[in-house]
Amino acid sequence: MTLAPDNTLSISHRSRNYFLVIVAVIIPLLSITVCSLEAAETAVAEKPWLDGKLDIDERVAALLEAMTLVEKVGQLRQTNGIGGEATGDAKNLVAGSELYDLIRNGQLGSILNEINVKTINEFQRVAVEESRLGIPLIIGRDVIHGYRTIFPIPLGQAASWHPELVEQACAVAAREARSAGIHWTFAPMVDIARDPRWGRIAEGFGEDPHLASTLAAASVRGYQGDDLASEDHIAACVKHFVGYGATEGGRDYNTTVISPSLMRNIYLPPFRAAVDAGVVTLMTAFNDVNGIPMSAHTYLLRDVLRGEWGFRGFVVSDWESIREMIPHGVFADEREAAIGAALAGVNMEMTSLGYHKNMVELVKTNVVPESVVDDLVKEILRVKFQLGLFEKPFTDTSRPAIFLEERDRNTARQLARQSVVMLKNEKKVLPLYQAEFDKIAVIGPLADAKREQLGTWIPDGQEKDSITPLAGIRAAAGEGIEVTYVPGLKDDFDESTEGFAAAVAAAQAADVVLLVVGERAHISGEASCRAILDLPGAQNELIKTIADVGNPTVLIVQAGRPLTIGQEVEQVDAVLYSFHAGTMAGPAIADLLWGKESPSGKLPVTFPKAVGQIPMYYNHTNTGRPTREYDFAKDKAYDEEFDLQQGFNSNYLDVGAYPLFPFGYGLSYAKFEYGKVELSTEKLKAGQILAVRVPVLNTGALAADEVVQVYVRDLVGSLARPVRELKAFRRVRLEAGQTDVLEFAISTDDLKFYNNEEEMLLEPGKFELYVGGSSLAPLAGAFEVVE
Ligand code: NOJ
Repeated sequence: MTLAPDNTLSISHRSRNYFLVIVAVIIPLLSITVCSLEAAETAVAEKPWLDGKLDIDERVAALLEAMTLVEKVGQLRQTNGIGGEATGDAKNLVAGSELYDLIRNGQLGSILNEINVKTINEFQRVAVEESRLGIPLIIGRDVIHGYRTIFPIPLGQAASWHPELVEQACAVAAREARSAGIHWTFAPMVDIARDPRWGRIAEGFGEDPHLASTLAAASVRGYQGDDLASEDHIAACVKHFVGYGATEGGRDYNTTVISPSLMRNIYLPPFRAAVDAGVVTLMTAFNDVNGIPMSAHTYLLRDVLRGEWGFRGFVVSDWESIREMIPHGVFADEREAAIGAALAGVNMEMTSLGYHKNMVELVKTNVVPESVVDDLVKEILRVKFQLGLFEKPFTDTSRPAIFLEERDRNTARQLARQSVVMLKNEKKVLPLYQAEFDKIAVIGPLADAKREQLGTWIPDGQEKDSITPLAGIRAAAGEGIEVTYVPGLKDDFDESTEGFAAAVAAAQAADVVLLVVGERAHISGEASCRAILDLPGAQNELIKTIADVGNPTVLIVQAGRPLTIGQEVEQVDAVLYSFHAGTMAGPAIADLLWGKESPSGKLPVTFPKAVGQIPMYYNHTNTGRPTREYDFAKDKAYDEEFDLQQGFNSNYLDVGAYPLFPFGYGLSYAKFEYGKVELSTEKLKAGQILAVRVPVLNTGALAADEVVQVYVRDLVGSLARPVRELKAFRRVRLEAGQTDVLEFAISTDDLKFYNNEEEMLLEPGKFELYVGGSSLAPLAGAFEVVE
């Protein structure tokens, strides 16, 4: 401001602008802030749980205090949303509907499967603004291996043996999902599976508890991050507790018989790892364990999960699994089933109505103590507070979509590359050296099947986003290389050989044949079990016909599980097993074919030769007449002659007792040599650490990753002990000619096991140690646990 000649105050241009800004913007802003602070104070006075200065347990207690019994029971209910396609004007959908009334009356805690973000916001508005207490809903969805950017199926992710990358993938999925209004995913599925007939083997991390536990923890970290309330994270839900993968005969939902020691040593550890990583929710399994359905398993849900492990999150049933305890024959009706589930500690009922219809009356008649309901409600509310839903219930729809961003697609491509397992590479057919050929034939029903490569359980994935192997190969070949595509079969189920002649002509004219076969997405996953694990349709005939042409042939298999493809593997020169590798499957496979990166995936599950061998897993115990140990010097994954001459040892006369490919197996373009393994001690006392040092040398001509695996065997135990158990692993990158010395620490905790009295034991005695690139790793040393 300046003094004008007439002594009046003159405001210079710039000062005038400041003045205007103060009047026009800052004062109103300040008054809005003051008003909203006042409003917030009034809200907090009326609703003390909105006070962010209180800790979460105090907020939960304050809210619970204000709730009626009907409102408490309301929090325990999860219902299926409208779902389906983008649903348009949310208001029209909810006003006056049953769902609208439920939300407004505080009778609903959660919705799953609503995908329209505007609709979600409208549901949330009704919950927060129109219900008496304004408790926000938690919105759940199956985000299993990606939201829009689809990563390899979890079984494929497990083949990467790369926890950091799996964590990154889950973080991408979380960010995409949260931006679409989702607060909670029903993942990771960590059910150990020893039976590839079971379709859901696709959704888990395979057969080994150590690998699955490591990836379970990585997934939880990826989804949840450090701060659940951030816009980039969602609540995870470890499932299906527990034993679902032990389903008899590999038939989904079937009964399970699991001894206490097996439960503790094999099936529970990945759940424990997820709990230790801070997972905030857990889902019960459909199956019964030894006759008790898991949605009423008080011992495992209360004593073990909450009591022993200290889990403080909430438990959701699986879809109708509380009601389904009636056909199980364990409860007579929904009311009884609701009592069983509530007393066992199932907080939220997914879709069935046992709690909704009965719980108020059950509490009023003192059948279920109100304190039980209070505890169930508290655990749900705590997670809602942790997610920041009381502060920020709505999804900001003005944020630009963050789907399929370049860097996220690159993460998907990298994980897809690392999840491919090379099962065979003879005559050095791979990698393809561009200079040596100018015609490629791409053959097979899955070479250009955008939807199939995405795999099972991708409710929000879109086939238009997929880049297929055909597209990836065309892009990698570039100009100058002719790529001919002849599917040979219309799809994987096609039985007709009509298209074979054209495929044979293409194979004859080509320098190299890339044959892409497998299983469509929908024959693995939930309720998608198979009793025959051959390639469906006439694919095996197609492979034989093309291989007979005699040109170098590479088989690329996309599938949700191990398939019995022994004959097909014999017929071709190289095999890449890619599982269902997701959106970026095509470029990832092309990267490997052209040697931009070496294959580095390792099998997370044993591949049987025949269905009759199932269950088949590497960490089995010995019989009194064990199968003879495989002769490692033969340097072949299986040797039928040796395998069949077992005499009166445990064996099959027709296919032998060895797998087609063992757990942990996978080839590389590089060649790795393992040096002499050093152990820090030969005798170990409780609480001490065994340090294992192993030099690994890449003697090949290309840089590549190796997954170094450490197994132990407890030679004599009070229970028969597994012939091998994975105890540590690491993915390491080695340049051509490079040696790295890796160090692993094995603690005596790693050597403990549970007996059938559920006592955890560290038994003195001798152990053997094996180090290498698969579960056939050779003996590397011995040590003893001493008192
Ligand atoms: C049933 C499945 O078993 C479970 O994994 C899934 O999360 C729920 N349905 C919700 O879709």
